[in-house]
Amino acid sequence: MSQVQLSDPKVVSEIVAGLLAERPSISPKFFYDEIGSHLFEAITFLEEYYPTRTEKMIMLECGEAIVSAIGRCDVLLDLGAGNCQKGSALFDSLKPEEYRALDISKEFLEKAIFSLQKEYPQIRMQAQTCDLQEELSFPDLVDRKKVFFYPGSSIGNFDPEAALSLFENIVHVCAGNGGLLIGVDLVKDREVLSRAYNDSLGITAAFNKNILLHLNRLLSANFDLKHWEHYAIFNEQLARIEMYIRATQQQLVTWPGGQKQFHVGDLIHTENSYKYTRETFEALLMRAGFKSVDLWTDPKHYFVVAYAAA
Ligand code: AVJ
Repeated sequence: MSQVQLSDPKVVSEIVAGLLAERPSISPKFFYDEIGSHLFEAITFLEEYYPTRTEKMIMLECGEAIVSAIGRCDVLLDLGAGNCQKGSALFDSLKPEEYRALDISKEFLEKAIFSLQKEYPQIRMQAQTCDLQEELSFPDLVDRKKVFFYPGSSIGNFDPEAALSLFENIVHVCAGNGGLLIGVDLVKDREVLSRAYNDSLGITAAFNKNILLHLNRLLSANFDLKHWEHYAIFNEQLARIEMYIRATQQQLVTWPGGQKQFHVGDLIHTENSYKYTRETFEALLMRAGFKSVDLWTDPKHYFVVAYAAA
């Protein structure tokens, strides 16, 4: 943990460019260091944070209908698989021949697959690193029916235009055989949304501010957490939660080769979490070229699970 680690120069210049921009930002992918991953897991247990629990309920209640909409599954491709928990929950009903776990880092995946493989010796399993901002391609899987799985409203981190390109990419890779099973958070009462990102225990605040501790390590920077606070707000026009870290004091932040002066109230944008309606989400999937979309939701219409057939 306290080991000195040299960062990838590409990562360093990406972060520095974000900090020095007119509207400073840090990519949400930097939330997920070891502490950040655990804090996110804690968020999913919070009473205020309904998405994880609601998606799970929809998958359970509507499991049969979902599986019958999908039909046969040769290969299950789990996007952002992490600990592979959600993906492997589909094994018994979908019965894939093969499971591909994809994520930015292979480390987590390989551990998860190692134990899953013992439980499911009949399923071929493979871990693969993948950055969803880049083009997906699976040359070794042509002619097999591919079902992509992207749960948890992770798609909410993408601007709708970027989500559209990811969907187009998936349509192209499926080549008329397969589809996408995806979960997304819905637009709702702003109080409910606001509470989900401003929980009373302050776990979301810790999760958000921890990104600065991660940067301190990646950049050898000196962000002092005492001088920053969590700020999350629902932007109704753009149908997204915006998260920022806000300076509570004037301060100079420095790192080898650079520095930035921050003033009281200055914001660093850390995340967008887009919300859709059933209609806008279905329309986006259809625009990407999927042939049909089935939707399942909960009684309060907080969240939706969709299967889009390519
Ligand atoms: C993992 C992107 C789905 O947007 O709700 C939770 C991340 N940020 N609380 C979300 C998050 C603050 C989460 N996603």
